[in-house]
Amino acid sequence: MSSIKSRKKNTIQTFIQKKSKSEKITVLTAYDYFIASILDTAGIDAILVGDSASNVLHGHMNTIPMTMEIMIAHTAAVSRGTENALVIGDMPFLSYQPSDELAILNAGRFLKEGFAEAVKLEGGLEMAERVKKIVDSGIPVMGHIGLTPQSIHKFGGPKVQGKKKKSKEYLIDSALALEDAGCFSIVLELLEAETAKEITEKLKTTATIGIGAGSECDGQVLVINDMLGLRPDNFNPKFLREYANLTPTIKKAVEQYIADVQSGNYPNKDESF
Ligand code: KIV
Repeated sequence: MSSIKSRKKNTIQTFIQKKSKSEKITVLTAYDYFIASILDTAGIDAILVGDSASNVLHGHMNTIPMTMEIMIAHTAAVSRGTENALVIGDMPFLSYQPSDELAILNAGRFLKEGFAEAVKLEGGLEMAERVKKIVDSGIPVMGHIGLTPQSIHKFGGPKVQGKKKKSKEYLIDSALALEDAGCFSIVLELLEAETAKEITEKLKTTATIGIGAGSECDGQVLVINDMLGLRPDNFNPKFLREYANLTPTIKKAVEQYIADVQSGNYPNKDESF
């Protein structure tokens, strides 16, 4: 097994090869330099600079307020912290929906200014032609179907998608159209495990990356804050596994700092010049 240091930078070929060998692909979100460097040295395959930054970093109710400027700044910080993982920049609401030209220019900004190697955008059948134009411009694209958070008002909440025959057919047709358009991978969000499995099996080279879509996807993604327990108590989706619970750890440290400063215990002589 090669050491992390000797590994080469992952590319979209890494996704394609892993799918062909039935090796699971690991993806997490990150939004800043230091967390990105931790994920990278831990050996994650790809880092998604998700527009979930809107919720988990900026305190918005949803991803709709996110802007290109903020996403590019987060993406550039993540790229500076990343040596091996593929960096994917998430295109914010209205940065790609209005026209092909705007979509290509904004996707290009993620590569030129954010130093990402790919972009992600939401949408199925209706977005396939646009995806093809971006891919034809030389920019790798990750698709995203199922519960697409930028359309949260259309869905009326975080509901599992594809339960009815028509919506399942739409998801399958969307995945196939996105593969034809050149997506190297597709996020499947909040789908029944059986539907995600069917899509994964139907796609020849395009890797499926699940979040709330069961274990049969080619890989998985989670929002880093959620899996580290940096989340509000009332956000507890069924699919989330918490790998650490940092909120009480941070709170305890801050309470101790406050107490030490207030009592004069910090700084002590050794911590002073
Ligand atoms: O923005 C994001 O973090 C995402 C993932 C949840 C897939 O889109």
